[in-house]
Amino acid sequence: MVLPEAELPEALSESIVHLTDAEFSTLTRFVYNKYGIDLHRKRLLIEGRLARELRAHNITTFSEYMNFLFADKTGEEMQRFLNRITTNHSFFGRENEHFEFLLRTALPYLEPRRKNDLRIWSAGCSAGQEAYNIAMVMDEYFGPRKAQWDTTILATDISTKVLKTAQEGIYPAENLIGLPEAWRRKYFQALADGNCQVAEKIRKEVVFRIFNLMNTFVYKKPFDIIFCRNVMIYFDAQTTARLVEKFYNATAEGGYLFIGHSESINREHTKYTYIKPAIYQKLTQ
Ligand SMILES: C[S@@+](CC[C@H](N)C(=O)[O-])C[C@H]1O[C@@H](n2cnc3c(N)ncnc32)[C@H](O)[C@@H]1O
Repeated sequence: MVLPEAELPEALSESIVHLTDAEFSTLTRFVYNKYGIDLHRKRLLIEGRLARELRAHNITTFSEYMNFLFADKTGEEMQRFLNRITTNHSFFGRENEHFEFLLRTALPYLEPRRKNDLRIWSAGCSAGQEAYNIAMVMDEYFGPRKAQWDTTILATDISTKVLKTAQEGIYPAENLIGLPEAWRRKYFQALADGNCQVAEKIRKEVVFRIFNLMNTFVYKKPFDIIFCRNVMIYFDAQTTARLVEKFYNATAEGGYLFIGHSESINREHTKYTYIKPAIYQKLTQ
């Protein structure tokens, strides 16, 4: 039986254009230099994910595609490219130990040391699950005292596609499975189509922005809490080390950095103090 094209997996339904060694090298070097993402072992992933882009533009070689991509001054093609090549998997309650630590240790430590605001950054936020999860922890921790605190969360990513979902705050119910039932009821609204939308009081606590972590950080005040989880797995050791140093410089005294449990920071090369797996703190005094 021949299935209609729409029902075939993408890799099969598209006629795959293969990268030559030179094209592969140019493309991976570009992505690495500009976005830090190390794709040098991801040849099939690039070919598979970009197949539809090439076909949409009637392009038959990657050289032609790159000429087209680099010549586009609107930035739109680059955005489509980034939306395709980034891996954005995320879900609520991911690495829950971090949210427990935030609630029981980090916030009780920070509250008496800060006046009435906490600077929080979800860096590489994907579709916003992590940032909203942090906002829920803030709500749990501060309760009625929250009115006196500004704990707005900055959430950034390079993919406009995920940022759009993030802004809407609408997710399939399976994406919430890592959260306690009580939180699902308290912080989400069930929609008629079966999806769930983050409650408005949580949504308004998060500001989403497009930002490339390879760029210089510009901020008014240093951060008290930085989450950068499951982002550095796509970077090599050198890029990770440089990024961690930038995070360190952007962290307030006593502030925390949370990374993914499958990521590592070379403890001899960072000024952060290791607290427990995937949690670091800036302690200079
Ligand atoms: C797997 S998601 C992680 C989402 C969330 N932090 C979590 O742990 O579930 C990785 C995200 O990092 C983003 N990313 C990759 N390189 C980036 C860069 N140079 N600047 C900003 N975001 C980047 C990707 O677009 C992707 O959405």
